[in-house]
Amino acid sequence: MQSILEDLKWRYATKKFDPEKKISESELNTILEAIRLAPSSYGLQPTKVMVIKDPEIREKLFDASYGQRQVVDASHLIVLTSFRELHPVIIHSYLDVVAETRQQNREDLKGFENMLINFSQTKDRNHLSEWMKKQNYIVLGHLLQICAQLRIDTTPMEGFNADRYDQILNLEERNLKTDLVIPMGYRDHSDQYLQRKKVRRPFNDIVEFL
Ligand SMILES: Cc1cc2nc3c(=O)[nH]c(=O)nc-3n(C[C@H](O)[C@H](O)[C@H](O)COP(=O)(O)O)c2cc1C
Repeated sequence: MQSILEDLKWRYATKKFDPEKKISESELNTILEAIRLAPSSYGLQPTKVMVIKDPEIREKLFDASYGQRQVVDASHLIVLTSFRELHPVIIHSYLDVVAETRQQNREDLKGFENMLINFSQTKDRNHLSEWMKKQNYIVLGHLLQICAQLRIDTTPMEGFNADRYDQILNLEERNLKTDLVIPMGYRDHSDQYLQRKKVRRPFNDIVEFL
């Protein structure tokens, strides 16, 4: 139990990465498999995880990241995207996966499928878009925890121009949009933020027992 807290105290939102240190392929695969296991509402996983290694693309994304160098210096850059529109085909393909995985008769899933289609057609576009974005925040939490366990540094980032990210990554034509950005790699020990004490509100401000 102690190690859970040690991991979480070790991690901090890294501002300066060591550009020479790279995450190994095997650790990267573990991280990506682990975030694939993140839970989501209805299990739908309306997420596409982009792993950006290409330095040229990262330079372009840096221009859309308000001067945050982590985007270029970190070993890998994760861009969490979700669908713009929740088309019926997305729901349909998910139910195909459920049927195949559990060896279920596809017809037996029709009720669940119709409920999801109804959900996607009765909620307005913005509501659905925000709902899908929320699923990516769960992925983010999972990712930060897993990386801390592996002693891999991360920066959760909302500070970027999402429209420009979408243009650079050609996301609109793929029915995707950028929600969150996470540089991952290894801290540069000269990072000033490393010296700063972790600030958290007092336990009793955050937790209440009834
Ligand atoms: C959703 C989210 C978005 C954030 N966006 C940024 C960001 O764009 N740039 C940055 O340097 N830090 C960003 N942070 C980091 C927070 O400032 C940081 O987590 C918080 O101050 C607590 O510090 P700690 O993570 O070092 O413990 C973000 C954190 C979260 C959870």
